[in-house]
Amino acid sequence: MSPTHIPEIVKILEVRREARDIKTFVLDKRLNARPGQFCMIWIPDVGEKPFTFSKLDGNIEIMVRKVGEFTERLFSMDKGDVIGIRGPYGNGFKLEGRNICVVAGGIGIAPLIPLVDIAKKNGDLLLLLGFRTKSEIIGMDRFEDKNIEVIIATDDGSFGIEGSVCNVLEDLLMERRFDSIYSCGPELMMRRVMDLSLRYKIPCQLSLERYIKCGIGICGSCCLENGLLVCKDGPVFNAVDLRNTEFGAYKRDSSGSKVNF
Ligand SMILES: Cc1cc2nc3c(=O)[nH]c(=O)nc-3n(C[C@H](O)[C@H](O)[C@H](O)COP(=O)(O)OP(=O)(O)OC[C@H]3O[C@@H](n4cnc5c(N)ncnc54)[C@H](O)[C@@H]3O)c2cc1C
Ligand code: FES
Repeated sequence: MSPTHIPEIVKILEVRREARDIKTFVLDKRLNARPGQFCMIWIPDVGEKPFTFSKLDGNIEIMVRKVGEFTERLFSMDKGDVIGIRGPYGNGFKLEGRNICVVAGGIGIAPLIPLVDIAKKNGDLLLLLGFRTKSEIIGMDRFEDKNIEVIIATDDGSFGIEGSVCNVLEDLLMERRFDSIYSCGPELMMRRVMDLSLRYKIPCQLSLERYIKCGIGICGSCCLENGLLVCKDGPVFNAVDLRNTEFGAYKRDSSGSKVNF
């Protein structure tokens, strides 16, 4: 994409509803990006916000959860409408080892879908997917492959195992070894995944969300207390680099004020 960081205007080719508040947007754009990298989506008069890629082979896709003004506006758009896009930005996941465990919570599944697409060709893959309730389960059509083992947990027990997906991981780690763990989801969930990976000495990569403004390492909005920039050094970090940081404790909002988890 343009090295000038000027958004390119692209057409929305298709919009798919995944759940009540989640939609996938298929864009008329192909990109050479890594799973876990992100782009800035621009809607004129509304602003620019970061979204990861939920599909990278062929036309790129983004999977969006409606949470506020920008995402509401995106939800009102349809096939044929246009948006601006710049990127890809950030580092993305690095695939390490052949026996992989992926732990996702809710919309956190999005950057892990293209990772799974690559990892499933490489070796054994276990997906631990957590959702609040059965009606919020998304992404299952992407994992219909007999090489992939999927375990689902829901907070209310309406589907799969009742409770946190981290409890499932904790039980599994007592008897099973993985080469690497990859995770994206609510930060408190990822904090437990990080702690477990450190306890069992399994390399672990986690995708973080911090307030992104420029996306290219200039404004400092996404800076962690240890000086790492989520938009440039991340959004994917190794667990060992996040221990003894504010990860799982607090983040900063658009004004720089601390927001506790
Ligand atoms: C690297 C990265 C990748 C992301 N990928 C996805 C994705 O694939 N799908 C998805 O649904 N969401 C993704 N998000 C989150 C998404 O950017 C926010 O949900 C979106 O910006 C909300 O904007 P809003 O105006 O609708 O809501 P608002 O009402 O403005 O905010 C709702 C919440 O969204 C978060 N948020 C708002 N603005 C930003 C911002 N500029 N940067 C980071 N977080 C923000 C804050 O936690 C805020 O409390 C990603 C965030 C980051 C940092
Ligand atoms: S968003 Fe500006 S430095 Fe990261």
